[in-house]
Amino acid sequence: MDQLLIQGGIPLRGKVRVNGSKNACLPIIAAALLTNENTIIEGVPDLLDVRTMIAVLEGLGAAVDYCQEQGLLRIAPGELSPAAPPADLVSRMRASFLVLGPLLARKKPVRLPLPGGCAIGTRPVDLHLKGLTAMGAQFSIINGCVEGHTTGLQGAGVYLDFPSVGATENIIMAATLARGTTILDNAATEPEIVDLANCLNSMGAQVVGAGTSRVRIEGVPGLGGTRHTIIPDRIEAGTLLLASVITGGDVIVENILPDHLKSLLAKLTEAGAIIEEVGPTAVRAAANGRTDAVDLKTMPYPGFSTDLQPQFMALMALSDGTSTVIETVFENRFRHVEGLNSMGAQIQVEGRQAIVQGRPYLTGAPVVAPDLRGAAALLLAGLAAQGETELLSVRHLWRGYSRLEERLVSLGAQIKRIAKEPEQAVRTGS
Ligand code: EPZ
Repeated sequence: MDQLLIQGGIPLRGKVRVNGSKNACLPIIAAALLTNENTIIEGVPDLLDVRTMIAVLEGLGAAVDYCQEQGLLRIAPGELSPAAPPADLVSRMRASFLVLGPLLARKKPVRLPLPGGCAIGTRPVDLHLKGLTAMGAQFSIINGCVEGHTTGLQGAGVYLDFPSVGATENIIMAATLARGTTILDNAATEPEIVDLANCLNSMGAQVVGAGTSRVRIEGVPGLGGTRHTIIPDRIEAGTLLLASVITGGDVIVENILPDHLKSLLAKLTEAGAIIEEVGPTAVRAAANGRTDAVDLKTMPYPGFSTDLQPQFMALMALSDGTSTVIETVFENRFRHVEGLNSMGAQIQVEGRQAIVQGRPYLTGAPVVAPDLRGAAALLLAGLAAQGETELLSVRHLWRGYSRLEERLVSLGAQIKRIAKEPEQAVRTGS
């Protein structure tokens, strides 16, 4: 069980570059299944979740070649085998469910385990199934698996009760090869949806309105291969900006699209940090003394991202004043509070609300990462705390960040990665 040893109290300084977006890359890898021609994806980050998605496609019979040094992925779907990717892989990562839309679009019968509820909530897929059913797919739930088939999808009008990112992506991908027009209302508007639509359109699809709450897709008879570059990862970028401010540092984050982070940049400015766009794809974040406590409410894009809530809460744990954090997207996304409080934070959780009383300092402690973004929050807290923090179950971090500790060390952080045999590892939690 890997763990990180973090010596806190060192202000980060220098420049750091953001990798390609995990949450853009995963649906785009699934979209490669919409054609039997080859697809090349550039700017692919070397992440556990990317490798899981590659394994899912290989389990479907696709040939996938990944050169992580170059961030280059080549996918040759060929004739897909009976579409039942390895159940253990699909259960491991919810995003595997994104192969559903593409496989149904190609009239392949599909059997996928229902994505298990994970650390941050139950995360059902009812909106995915509702949209695809409206397009003519038929589903049954047998032994915890979704079995789906269709003789051919038809365009339909679909309204999403919640602007689900995954449901939006599955429905758009399915609609590209449906007969007729699909209008998707209350669609998610995240930048990753726009990147997916741009990739689909480069394959010959006709997707209009991605990034708005109404997306129109004209079905086409078939799609071709493409070469597509993934957008920068706005959540990794936000995590790095927060790392600078929480350590009292001064860092320029490069390969960032400020337009994708307006809510975070506004909140950091409100908290008193120095935020400066120093180029079209570069932002400087610097501390300006102790940050002020600011209230936070996560919302679907362009609201404040739920994926940056844990990291921002770590900053508020050290702020001057009391901050109220409201998590509206997931019902259980405060699992990082336990670790922060064991480092001296004073955070009280009441349902979907957390009251954070800022403290003048935190002290290093052994803490267990509960999930991907909770791991990032505890890492940031460790960088700012006095003394040493042991971050256990750090494997969660590798799901969404590639060599993050190396890049933080290049900014002056003191972090050591220790591989521990499972029996030696302290209780690691989930
Ligand atoms: C995507 O997950 C992201 N993952 C998540 O990032 C992100 O937190 C989330 O969108 C919200 O922005 C990827 O893109 C791979 P949702 P997704 O469907 O698609 C409910 C990270 O840290 N819902 O928008 O699974 C659901 O329960 C990850 O990088 C239904 O009720 O999120 C949740 O409460 C974590 N029925 C809310 O919607 C459905 O059919 C948002 O879920 C689908 C979702």
